Formats: sequence, C-alpha cells, structure tokens
Amino acid sequence: MTSSFRIAHISDTHVSPEYNRHNVVKLKNLLAYVVDNKYDHIAITGDITGNGEYGGYRSVRRILKYFNLLDYEKLSVTIGNHDIFGGVHRAEDLFTFGGRCRLRDYEAQVKMFERFFKETFPGKAYKGESVFPFVKIVGPVAFIGLNSISRFHAIWNPVGSNGRIEDNQLEEVERILLHPSIAALKKIVLIHHHFNKYQPHSDSLGTTLYHKFEAQTLKLYGKSRVEELFSKSGVDAVLHGHTHIEGIYSRSGMMFSSAALNPVRDGADIEEPSTDSQLSFNEVSVSDEGLIVVSKRRAAVLPKGTSSRALDWKHHI
Ligand SMILES: [Fe+2]
Ligand SMILES: [Fe+2]
Repeated sequence: MTSSFRIAHISDTHVSPEYNRHNVVKLKNLLAYVVDNKYDHIAITGDITGNGEYGGYRSVRRILKYFNLLDYEKLSVTIGNHDIFGGVHRAEDLFTFGGRCRLRDYEAQVKMFERFFKETFPGKAYKGESVFPFVKIVGPVAFIGLNSISRFHAIWNPVGSNGRIEDNQLEEVERILLHPSIAALKKIVLIHHHFNKYQPHSDSLGTTLYHKFEAQTLKLYGKSRVEELFSKSGVDAVLHGHTHIEGIYSRSGMMFSSAALNPVRDGADIEEPSTDSQLSFNEVSVSDEGLIVVSKRRAAVLPKGTSSRALDWKHHI
C-alpha cells in the first residue's frame, strides 16, 4: 500500500484585529479542518497578517498555539507584503497608504515576522540574522523559504506589493538548492509572489477595495531569472499566494500551487469558486514514489458572526 506526505497549502489569511475580523474565525475553521484531517505539514505563503501590525501577529500566534502548530515539524511560513507594509482597508487609506509604506521599517517588520514564528524556522532565527532564505527538511521534503517582498520605492514599489529577490538571497538559494544533502529530497519552494499571468478580475462580485488597488502593482521583478534558477536547480514545486486567485499550473517543468483563504469569485481561471460557507486551500501530496500531486480543497466555515468562543468549544468536543 502506498502512503503519501500531505501538505496543506494555505495563503493570504490577512488576520488583523481591526480589519476583516471574520478572517480570524475562518483561519480557526481551516486549521481545525487541517488538524482533524491529519495533514503531515502546513505551509502558509504570506500575507498572514492583514496590516503587518503587532496585534495581527499576536492573534495569529495565539491561534497557532491553540492548535499546537508552533512547531518546526508541523508548520512552515514565509512572508508577504501585508506582513511588512500592511494594506489599504478603507477608501481614505488610498491617499495615505504610499506614505505609510515609505515610513515602515522594512528590517524591523521582517524581524517581527521572524520573532512571532520563530519555532518554525531553522536555527538562524536565534542568531539575529535574517532567516531568509531558509531550508528545512521535513519528511521527504526540503522546504526552501524566500522573502520575495521588494523594499519601498516611490516609482518601482509605491504601495509595497511588488516583489524582488535581492541578489545575495538568490545566490544563497542557489547554494541551498544545489547542496548534496537535499539532492534526494523533493524541493518545494515557499514564496509569496506568483509566476503565472495575473488575470485581473471584474470589479463586480467580491472584489475588495485593497485588491483593486493592489492589482496595479503586483509583479515580481526578475521573475524569469528566478524561475530559471528554480528550474535548473531541480525545484519540484513552488507554493505561493498573493493574487488571491486559487490555481494549479506548471511552468518550466515545475508544479505551482496558488492558494488563497478567500479566493476571488470572478477570476478567469476559477471553475468552482468557493462560497461564503467554504474555505479554500490546496493539498500538495508527495507519494512514496516521489510523485507530486496538487489539488484544490475546501473546508466548511461556520456562518459569519459565529464567535471564536463557539469555535473553541466546537474544537474541544
Ligand atoms: Fe494577500
Ligand atoms: Fe500579497
């Protein structure tokens, strides 16, 4: 009988005590589902918080702790643009957001991210260096985590949502990927930014203000070079988020999994959009034979307005 190593790929949970409060309930529902269904590992690919603030990080950490997931073996995370710069949540923010991005301390935000999820990273997190890029081996997989968030630039990254992987990080990634110690393992990259063509969705159903705004500035600079590096270094799969469009695709001989907690409902490549009572994630399964299969999954969510206490109670029974 064959068994497989199953990864629950989650992305863009956008937890914030101030905005999108229902995302807290959704994240709890989704983690309860994943834990109950005995996934071997969880990977969350950025925009874990909605606004990159202490309160959001604290909420996520409490939730992960509740589910006993602050554990190297159980969870891997990578950083998204919201975890550094936050996002636009109200119409009036459109006019001030660029200024806020300029003032955000990039290094301090990355450090905060690393501190809040420190149990999930390899030893570098404890030495004061940035943990990115990291490599960790869990089961048959070497997870390689990158920070793809570009620094603020008034022209090239005016609202913080564009991506860029700096040269020193790319050089280290190449060393990691070609290291003999992971040659026999499946190489799975965790990165926030996407590699497929972004399909802007209509501004009718389910399109939030911040998403329309971000649609102008979502690209990863140097994408082809990064993709080529991954491909020639034997990467098997790339897990990402950022677009809020769920999807599975292949490029340059690699599988790509695009996950979103609340996928947009009118994207061009969505055949089965989730409803308000469903949550979305992707299952990435590695078989004994080394075959990787990615599939879309749904978990139920309790109706809007359900208190977290009720959820806690539900989880205990
Ligand atoms: Fe996002
Ligand atoms: Fe993002």
